[in-house]
Amino acid sequence: MKKKVIAILFGGASSEHEISRLSASSIIKNISKEKYELILVGITKNSEWFLYTGDIENVANGEWESDNTNKKPAFISPDSSIRGLIICENQKYSIIKIDAVIPALHGKNGEDGTIQGLLQLARIPFVGCDTFSSAACMDKITTNITLKYAGIKKANFAFITKNYFYSNKEKCIEYIEKTLPFFPLFVKPSNAGSSVGISKVYSQDDLIKSIETALLEDNRVLIEEGINGQEVECAVLGNDDPIASICGEIVPSNDFYDYEAKYISNNSKLYIPAHIDEEISNKIRKIALNAYKIIGCSGLARVDFFVEKNTNEIYLNEINTFPGFTNISMYPKLFEHTGISYSDLIDKLINLSFERAK
Ligand SMILES: Nc1ncnc2c1ncn2[C@@H]1O[C@H](COP(=O)(O)OP(=O)(O)OP(=O)(O)O)[C@@H](O)[C@H]1O
Ligand SMILES: [Mg+2]
Repeated sequence: MKKKVIAILFGGASSEHEISRLSASSIIKNISKEKYELILVGITKNSEWFLYTGDIENVANGEWESDNTNKKPAFISPDSSIRGLIICENQKYSIIKIDAVIPALHGKNGEDGTIQGLLQLARIPFVGCDTFSSAACMDKITTNITLKYAGIKKANFAFITKNYFYSNKEKCIEYIEKTLPFFPLFVKPSNAGSSVGISKVYSQDDLIKSIETALLEDNRVLIEEGINGQEVECAVLGNDDPIASICGEIVPSNDFYDYEAKYISNNSKLYIPAHIDEEISNKIRKIALNAYKIIGCSGLARVDFFVEKNTNEIYLNEINTFPGFTNISMYPKLFEHTGISYSDLIDKLINLSFERAK
């Protein structure tokens, strides 16, 4: 059988550029070379696109970017009659046809519907959520409103815009304190990722400062009541009839799972299975599947929760549509413990992209 041509997009104009390179590198090393021919497309932090044909060891460390002999400007055309990558060389162009794309990109300009929109226009099957669900899950205000309206338990929240805040700070703070009377609160840019711009707030003075910090990342800010609980994550896989993995748990090394705890300190702990009762785990899996369907996800997503200490109440935190995908990341590890190996998982995801495109 003819090999399918799979383009793997990595890097991206995102604060999660580096972790994307690690995810892509793991995928490249583990994907079946018997079934698939790989085309590697690197995107720089400035959003320049290149076809990369050099040593795959230089994807993870970022050295691919300075390998000028093995990279050529290239981009995916939105024109559906091309369905491929356009390579630009010496004022001429050539085309590589593509059967499917794995956008191994995290955060802004990758996990937020932008790339997905391009691929939908191009009519190229791709792994992961579609344009709408990617955008809806990236935007924390939209996720909260949608899921709360559908009856899924969320921490109480308020949200504000930049204009509203700077036109009347006093009224704005009054509204937040009325809606959320108890500290600590979490203040988050609606659209950011990697905990960038997020603060845990213990007092009114901190509240104003943290809103200003969050407003540096986005024009809309979400404020949530803090939940004192365990952080539990569940992986979901599938299109119309998705399955949920067993649950895992993150124990952050800092006061909360901030950027440092996620990517720098290396002291945060990951447990599979999570330290929760089976009954709670089953409830979480059910809610994860429900939320996934409500917001229109397909392919994959990792759904994150808090299980409140003492009460065992379950709160959904967020849905990540392209979660970290190295072979030691939570999403693939959860499915490995559920009986699907890393390579099989990639295979299933590619098949799901073809199934959705039918
Ligand atoms: N309402 C809350 N109560 C308690 N802790 C919270 C709350 N919201 C966020 N946190 C803490 O802050 C961390 C980061 O918040 P969140 O998951 O919402 O954003 P994010 O991880 O930056 O988003 P993304 O996964 O899109 O990068 C959480 O993992 C958790 O440790
Ligand atoms: Mg998170």
